Amino acid sequence: MNKRIVVLPGDGIGPEVVDAALSVLAAVARRYGHAFDVRPSEIGGAAVRRSGTSLPQSTLDACLGADAVLLGAVGEPAYDSAPREQRPEYALLTLRKALGVFANLRPAKVWPALESAGPLKQERVAGTDLCFVRELTGGLYYGEPRSIDHRAGEAVNTLRYSRAEIQRVAEIAFSVARRRRCLVTSVDKANVLETSQLWRAVVGEVAPRYQGVRLEHMYVDACAMAITLDPRRFDVVLTENSFGDILSDEAGAVVGSLGLLPSASVGHGIGLYEPVHGSAPTMAGKDVANPIGAILSVALMLRLSFGLMTEANTVESAVGEALDAGARTRDLVAGEAEPHLTCSAMARRIVHAIEAAAPVSRG
Ligand code: IPM
Ligand code: MN
Repeated sequence: MNKRIVVLPGDGIGPEVVDAALSVLAAVARRYGHAFDVRPSEIGGAAVRRSGTSLPQSTLDACLGADAVLLGAVGEPAYDSAPREQRPEYALLTLRKALGVFANLRPAKVWPALESAGPLKQERVAGTDLCFVRELTGGLYYGEPRSIDHRAGEAVNTLRYSRAEIQRVAEIAFSVARRRRCLVTSVDKANVLETSQLWRAVVGEVAPRYQGVRLEHMYVDACAMAITLDPRRFDVVLTENSFGDILSDEAGAVVGSLGLLPSASVGHGIGLYEPVHGSAPTMAGKDVANPIGAILSVALMLRLSFGLMTEANTVESAVGEALDAGARTRDLVAGEAEPHLTCSAMARRIVHAIEAAAPVSRG
Protein backbone atom coordinates (compact mmCIF):
# COMPACT_ATOMS: atom_id res chain seq x y z
CA MET A 1 0.00 0.00 0.00
CA ASN A 2 1.31 3.44 -0.94
CA LYS A 3 -0.11 6.35 1.02
CA ARG A 4 0.82 9.98 1.32
CA ILE A 5 1.01 11.20 4.90
CA VAL A 6 1.60 14.85 5.69
CA VAL A 7 3.35 15.25 9.02
CA LEU A 8 3.10 18.43 11.08
CA PRO A 9 5.47 18.20 14.08
CA GLY A 10 4.48 21.67 15.35
CA ASP A 11 5.52 23.11 18.71
CA GLY A 12 6.91 22.03 22.07
CA ILE A 13 7.14 18.25 22.44
CA GLY A 14 5.35 17.83 19.07
CA PRO A 15 8.54 17.12 17.06
CA GLU A 16 9.79 14.51 19.58
CA VAL A 17 6.57 12.51 19.77
CA VAL A 18 6.14 12.72 15.99
CA ASP A 19 9.67 11.34 15.46
CA ALA A 20 8.77 8.47 17.78
CA ALA A 21 5.50 7.83 15.95
CA LEU A 22 7.26 7.88 12.57
CA SER A 23 9.78 5.29 13.75
CA VAL A 24 6.84 3.04 14.57
CA LEU A 25 5.22 3.75 11.20
CA ALA A 26 8.51 2.84 9.49
CA ALA A 27 8.63 -0.43 11.44
CA VAL A 28 5.09 -1.24 10.27
CA ALA A 29 6.05 -0.41 6.67
CA ARG A 30 9.09 -2.74 6.84
CA ARG A 31 7.20 -5.55 8.44
CA TYR A 32 4.15 -5.51 6.19
CA GLY A 33 5.75 -4.27 2.98
CA HIS A 34 4.05 -0.88 2.69
CA ALA A 35 5.48 2.33 1.29
CA PHE A 36 4.36 5.39 3.20
CA ASP A 37 5.26 8.67 1.54
CA VAL A 38 5.88 10.90 4.57
CA ARG A 39 6.01 14.65 3.91
CA PRO A 40 6.87 17.06 6.72
CA SER A 41 5.31 20.51 6.75
CA GLU A 42 5.30 23.46 9.13
CA ILE A 43 2.55 24.59 11.48
CA GLY A 44 2.32 26.67 14.66
CA GLY A 45 5.10 28.75 16.17
CA ALA A 46 7.77 27.35 13.85
CA ALA A 47 5.69 28.43 10.86
CA VAL A 48 5.07 31.90 12.32
CA ARG A 49 8.80 32.45 12.73
CA ARG A 50 9.54 31.44 9.17
CA SER A 51 6.60 32.85 7.28
CA GLY A 52 4.66 35.13 9.65
CA THR A 53 1.62 32.88 9.72
CA SER A 54 0.86 29.80 11.83
CA LEU A 55 -0.77 27.94 8.93
CA PRO A 56 1.07 28.72 5.66
CA GLN A 57 -0.89 28.14 2.46
CA SER A 58 1.71 25.54 1.40
CA THR A 59 0.98 23.52 4.56
CA LEU A 60 -2.76 23.71 4.01
CA ASP A 61 -2.38 22.67 0.35
CA ALA A 62 -0.16 19.75 1.34
CA CYS A 63 -2.75 18.56 3.89
CA LEU A 64 -5.59 18.83 1.39
CA GLY A 65 -3.60 16.66 -1.02
CA ALA A 66 -2.75 13.99 1.57
CA ASP A 67 -4.32 10.64 2.38
CA ALA A 68 -3.94 11.43 6.08
CA VAL A 69 -2.32 14.02 8.34
CA LEU A 70 -0.32 13.36 11.52
CA LEU A 71 0.11 16.30 13.88
CA GLY A 72 2.30 16.59 17.00
CA ALA A 73 1.09 19.63 18.92
CA VAL A 74 0.63 23.36 18.58
CA GLY A 75 1.01 26.10 21.18
CA GLU A 76 3.85 28.31 22.36
CA PRO A 77 3.62 30.67 25.32
CA ALA A 78 5.51 33.32 23.29
CA TYR A 79 2.44 33.75 21.09
CA ASP A 80 -0.16 33.77 23.87
CA SER A 81 -0.98 37.41 23.31
CA ALA A 82 -0.36 37.55 19.58
CA PRO A 83 -3.24 38.44 17.25
CA ARG A 84 -5.53 35.47 16.68
CA GLU A 85 -4.26 34.73 13.15
CA GLN A 86 -0.72 34.34 14.47
CA ARG A 87 -1.61 32.05 17.33
CA PRO A 88 -0.56 28.43 16.85
CA GLU A 89 -3.96 27.21 18.08
CA TYR A 90 -5.68 29.19 15.33
CA ALA A 91 -3.73 27.15 12.75
CA LEU A 92 -5.10 23.92 14.15
CA LEU A 93 -8.67 25.19 14.23
CA THR A 94 -8.37 26.42 10.64
CA LEU A 95 -6.90 23.10 9.54
CA ARG A 96 -9.67 21.09 11.22
CA LYS A 97 -12.28 23.24 9.49
CA ALA A 98 -10.54 23.05 6.11
CA LEU A 99 -10.31 19.25 6.31
CA GLY A 100 -13.94 19.07 7.44
CA VAL A 101 -13.06 16.73 10.29
CA PHE A 102 -16.21 17.27 12.32
CA ALA A 103 -15.86 14.22 14.59
CA ASN A 104 -12.95 13.73 16.96
CA LEU A 105 -12.58 10.20 18.35
CA ARG A 106 -10.63 10.00 21.58
CA PRO A 107 -10.43 6.45 22.91
CA ALA A 108 -9.33 6.20 26.54
CA LYS A 109 -8.60 2.81 28.03
CA VAL A 110 -6.75 1.76 31.11
CA TRP A 111 -3.91 -0.57 30.15
CA PRO A 112 -3.68 -3.58 32.50
CA ALA A 113 -0.06 -2.74 33.34
CA LEU A 114 -1.01 0.82 34.32
CA GLU A 115 -4.02 0.21 36.56
CA SER A 116 -2.18 1.62 39.54
CA ALA A 117 0.06 4.11 37.70
CA GLY A 118 -2.38 7.01 37.86
CA PRO A 119 -3.70 9.14 40.72
CA LEU A 120 -7.00 7.23 41.02
CA LYS A 121 -7.61 3.97 42.87
CA GLN A 122 -6.95 0.82 40.85
CA GLU A 123 -10.28 -0.75 41.81
CA ARG A 124 -12.12 2.24 40.36
CA VAL A 125 -10.32 2.55 37.04
CA ALA A 126 -9.29 -1.01 36.12
CA GLY A 127 -11.04 -2.13 32.95
CA THR A 128 -12.04 1.36 31.80
CA ASP A 129 -12.49 1.47 28.04
CA LEU A 130 -14.39 4.44 26.70
CA CYS A 131 -14.33 6.59 23.59
CA PHE A 132 -15.19 10.25 23.33
CA VAL A 133 -16.80 11.43 20.15
CA ARG A 134 -16.24 15.17 20.31
CA GLU A 135 -17.85 17.55 17.81
CA LEU A 136 -14.83 19.35 16.36
CA THR A 137 -15.72 22.04 13.84
CA GLY A 138 -18.55 23.94 15.52
CA GLY A 139 -19.66 25.41 18.82
CA LEU A 140 -17.82 28.02 20.86
CA TYR A 141 -14.54 27.53 19.04
CA TYR A 142 -15.98 28.83 15.77
CA GLY A 143 -19.18 30.72 16.59
CA GLU A 144 -19.62 34.26 15.27
CA PRO A 145 -19.83 36.96 16.44
CA ARG A 146 -16.71 36.82 18.58
CA SER A 147 -14.70 39.73 19.89
CA ILE A 148 -12.63 41.15 22.68
CA ASP A 149 -12.56 44.78 23.71
CA HIS A 150 -9.90 45.25 26.36
CA ARG A 151 -10.70 48.92 26.91
CA ALA A 152 -14.38 48.32 27.48
CA GLY A 153 -13.57 45.15 29.41
CA GLU A 154 -15.95 43.04 27.39
CA ALA A 155 -15.57 39.91 25.27
CA VAL A 156 -18.00 37.78 23.29
CA ASN A 157 -18.08 34.20 22.06
CA THR A 158 -21.03 32.51 20.43
CA LEU A 159 -22.25 28.99 21.02
CA ARG A 160 -24.25 27.95 17.96
CA TYR A 161 -25.16 24.52 16.64
CA SER A 162 -27.29 23.52 13.69
CA ARG A 163 -29.37 20.37 13.39
CA ALA A 164 -27.11 19.12 10.57
CA GLU A 165 -23.94 19.56 12.63
CA ILE A 166 -25.40 17.62 15.55
CA GLN A 167 -26.87 14.91 13.37
CA ARG A 168 -23.67 14.00 11.52
CA VAL A 169 -21.53 13.73 14.64
CA ALA A 170 -24.25 11.75 16.41
CA GLU A 171 -24.29 9.30 13.50
CA ILE A 172 -20.55 8.75 13.95
CA ALA A 173 -21.03 8.17 17.69
CA PHE A 174 -23.75 5.56 17.12
CA SER A 175 -21.72 3.74 14.48
CA VAL A 176 -18.71 3.68 16.80
CA ALA A 177 -20.90 2.36 19.65
CA ARG A 178 -22.29 -0.41 17.44
CA ARG A 179 -18.75 -1.78 17.09
CA ARG A 180 -18.17 -1.47 20.86
CA ARG A 181 -20.51 -2.05 23.83
CA CYS A 182 -23.56 -0.38 22.30
CA LEU A 183 -24.04 2.50 24.74
CA VAL A 184 -23.98 6.20 23.79
CA THR A 185 -23.90 8.75 26.62
CA SER A 186 -24.76 12.13 25.14
CA VAL A 187 -23.40 14.91 27.32
CA ASP A 188 -24.91 18.39 27.43
CA LYS A 189 -26.13 21.19 29.68
CA ALA A 190 -29.74 21.06 28.56
CA ASN A 191 -30.98 22.39 31.90
CA VAL A 192 -29.44 25.76 31.01
CA LEU A 193 -28.37 26.00 27.36
CA GLU A 194 -30.67 26.13 24.32
CA THR A 195 -27.91 24.64 22.13
CA SER A 196 -27.96 21.65 24.47
CA GLN A 197 -31.73 21.36 24.19
CA LEU A 198 -31.41 21.14 20.40
CA TRP A 199 -28.48 18.74 20.83
CA ARG A 200 -30.55 16.42 23.02
CA ALA A 201 -33.51 16.49 20.64
CA VAL A 202 -31.46 15.77 17.51
CA VAL A 203 -29.42 12.99 19.14
CA GLY A 204 -32.72 11.48 20.27
CA GLU A 205 -33.95 11.51 16.66
CA VAL A 206 -30.83 9.77 15.36
CA ALA A 207 -30.90 7.02 18.01
CA PRO A 208 -33.80 4.86 16.67
CA ARG A 209 -31.91 4.35 13.40
CA TYR A 210 -29.27 2.42 15.35
CA GLN A 211 -31.16 -0.58 16.66
CA GLY A 212 -29.44 -2.24 19.56
CA VAL A 213 -27.51 0.85 20.67
CA ARG A 214 -28.78 2.35 23.91
CA LEU A 215 -28.81 6.14 24.35
CA GLU A 216 -28.66 7.99 27.66
CA HIS A 217 -28.31 11.72 28.34
CA MET A 218 -26.14 13.21 31.06
CA TYR A 219 -25.42 16.76 32.17
CA VAL A 220 -21.81 17.75 31.70
CA ASP A 221 -21.21 18.56 35.37
CA ALA A 222 -22.49 15.15 36.45
CA CYS A 223 -20.46 13.52 33.70
CA ALA A 224 -17.26 15.22 34.85
CA MET A 225 -17.75 13.64 38.27
CA ALA A 226 -18.81 10.22 36.93
CA ILE A 227 -15.67 9.99 34.78
CA THR A 228 -13.54 9.95 37.91
CA LEU A 229 -15.93 8.03 40.20
CA ASP A 230 -17.11 5.33 37.79
CA PRO A 231 -15.28 5.53 34.44
CA ARG A 232 -16.13 1.92 33.56
CA ARG A 233 -19.80 2.77 33.13
CA PHE A 234 -19.04 4.67 29.90
CA ASP A 235 -18.73 3.29 26.39
CA VAL A 236 -19.14 6.12 23.84
CA VAL A 237 -19.36 9.67 25.20
CA LEU A 238 -20.84 12.01 22.59
CA THR A 239 -20.50 15.72 23.23
CA GLU A 240 -19.98 19.18 21.77
CA ASN A 241 -16.63 20.78 21.08
CA SER A 242 -15.66 22.54 24.30
CA PHE A 243 -17.20 19.97 26.69
CA GLY A 244 -15.29 17.29 24.78
CA ASP A 245 -12.04 19.21 25.08
CA ILE A 246 -12.40 19.41 28.84
CA LEU A 247 -13.71 15.91 29.56
CA SER A 248 -11.06 14.20 27.44
CA ASP A 249 -8.25 15.77 29.46
CA GLU A 250 -9.99 14.50 32.58
CA ALA A 251 -9.80 11.01 31.10
CA GLY A 252 -6.02 11.46 31.05
CA ALA A 253 -6.05 11.26 34.84
CA VAL A 254 -8.17 8.10 34.69
CA VAL A 255 -5.83 6.23 32.33
CA GLY A 256 -2.73 7.36 34.22
CA SER A 257 -1.39 10.11 31.97
CA LEU A 258 -2.62 12.46 29.29
CA GLY A 259 0.44 11.39 27.33
CA LEU A 260 -1.20 8.03 26.59
CA LEU A 261 -4.24 9.33 24.73
CA PRO A 262 -4.50 9.32 20.93
CA SER A 263 -7.10 10.93 18.72
CA ALA A 264 -8.54 10.61 15.24
CA SER A 265 -10.48 13.39 13.56
CA VAL A 266 -12.68 12.22 10.75
CA GLY A 267 -15.22 13.73 8.41
CA HIS A 268 -15.35 13.80 4.67
CA GLY A 269 -12.22 11.88 3.72
CA ILE A 270 -8.78 12.99 4.89
CA GLY A 271 -8.25 12.06 8.53
CA LEU A 272 -6.26 14.15 11.01
CA TYR A 273 -4.45 12.23 13.75
CA GLU A 274 -2.97 13.82 16.85
CA PRO A 275 -2.22 12.94 20.44
CA VAL A 276 -4.60 14.58 22.93
CA HIS A 277 -1.79 16.14 24.99
CA GLY A 278 -0.62 19.60 23.97
CA SER A 279 2.80 21.08 23.28
CA ALA A 280 3.95 20.93 26.96
CA PRO A 281 6.56 23.70 26.45
CA THR A 282 8.36 23.02 29.74
CA MET A 283 9.12 19.43 28.68
CA ALA A 284 10.19 20.28 25.13
CA GLY A 285 13.61 19.28 23.82
CA LYS A 286 14.42 17.06 26.83
CA ASP A 287 13.39 13.70 25.38
CA VAL A 288 11.13 13.12 28.40
CA ALA A 289 7.70 13.17 26.75
CA ASN A 290 5.49 10.11 26.47
CA PRO A 291 5.26 9.14 22.78
CA ILE A 292 2.44 6.61 23.27
CA GLY A 293 -0.38 9.08 22.49
CA ALA A 294 1.27 9.85 19.14
CA ILE A 295 2.08 6.20 18.46
CA LEU A 296 -1.50 5.13 19.14
CA SER A 297 -2.65 7.95 16.85
CA VAL A 298 -0.64 6.24 14.09
CA ALA A 299 -2.49 3.00 14.91
CA LEU A 300 -5.79 4.87 14.49
CA MET A 301 -4.56 6.23 11.15
CA LEU A 302 -3.68 2.74 9.94
CA ARG A 303 -7.12 1.44 10.93
CA LEU A 304 -9.44 4.32 10.05
CA SER A 305 -7.78 5.97 7.06
CA PHE A 306 -6.07 3.00 5.45
CA GLY A 307 -8.18 0.03 6.62
CA LEU A 308 -5.01 -1.73 7.80
CA MET A 309 -6.57 -3.60 10.74
CA THR A 310 -3.77 -6.11 11.32
CA GLU A 311 -1.14 -3.38 11.26
CA ALA A 312 -3.15 -1.22 13.68
CA ASN A 313 -3.64 -4.15 16.04
CA THR A 314 0.08 -4.92 15.90
CA VAL A 315 0.97 -1.38 16.98
CA GLU A 316 -1.52 -1.46 19.85
CA SER A 317 -0.32 -4.90 20.99
CA ALA A 318 3.29 -3.68 20.85
CA VAL A 319 2.39 -0.78 23.15
CA GLY A 320 0.70 -3.22 25.54
CA GLU A 321 3.72 -5.53 25.50
CA ALA A 322 6.17 -2.72 26.21
CA LEU A 323 4.02 -1.59 29.14
CA ASP A 324 3.59 -5.18 30.40
CA ALA A 325 7.38 -5.55 30.33
CA GLY A 326 7.65 -2.52 32.62
CA ALA A 327 8.59 0.18 30.11
CA ARG A 328 7.60 3.57 31.57
CA THR A 329 8.20 7.17 30.59
CA ARG A 330 8.65 9.90 33.19
CA ASP A 331 4.92 10.67 33.41
CA LEU A 332 4.14 7.06 34.38
CA VAL A 333 6.43 6.75 37.41
CA ALA A 334 5.97 8.17 40.89
CA GLY A 335 9.16 10.20 40.96
CA GLU A 336 12.27 11.16 39.02
CA ALA A 337 14.25 8.55 41.00
CA GLU A 338 12.19 5.61 39.72
CA PRO A 339 13.59 3.93 36.64
CA HIS A 340 12.09 5.23 33.43
CA LEU A 341 12.77 5.60 29.72
CA THR A 342 13.23 8.61 27.50
CA CYS A 343 10.72 9.35 24.76
CA SER A 344 13.00 7.88 22.08
CA ALA A 345 13.85 4.80 24.17
CA MET A 346 10.15 4.06 24.68
CA ALA A 347 9.67 4.31 20.90
CA ARG A 348 12.54 1.84 20.37
CA ARG A 349 10.93 -0.61 22.81
CA ILE A 350 7.69 -0.47 20.87
CA VAL A 351 9.51 -0.82 17.53
CA HIS A 352 11.27 -3.93 18.88
CA ALA A 353 7.95 -5.40 19.94
CA ILE A 354 6.62 -4.85 16.42
CA GLU A 355 9.69 -6.47 14.89
CA ALA A 356 9.39 -9.43 17.26
CA ALA A 357 5.65 -9.92 16.85
CA ALA A 358 4.63 -13.32 15.55
CA PRO A 359 3.54 -13.16 11.92
CA VAL A 360 -0.21 -12.64 11.86
CA SER A 361 -2.50 -13.96 9.19
CA ARG A 362 -4.56 -11.34 7.42
CA GLY A 363 -8.23 -11.08 8.01
C1 IPM B 1 -7.07 19.62 21.89
C2 IPM B 1 -6.36 20.93 22.12
C3 IPM B 1 -6.85 21.95 21.12
C4 IPM B 1 -8.35 22.11 21.33
C5 IPM B 1 -6.14 23.32 21.19
C6 IPM B 1 -4.66 23.19 21.02
C7 IPM B 1 -6.70 24.29 20.19
O1 IPM B 1 -6.52 21.35 23.43
O2 IPM B 1 -6.97 19.11 20.76
O3 IPM B 1 -7.71 19.12 22.80
O4 IPM B 1 -8.79 22.83 22.24
O5 IPM B 1 -9.11 21.51 20.56
MN1 MN C 1 -7.54 19.89 24.71
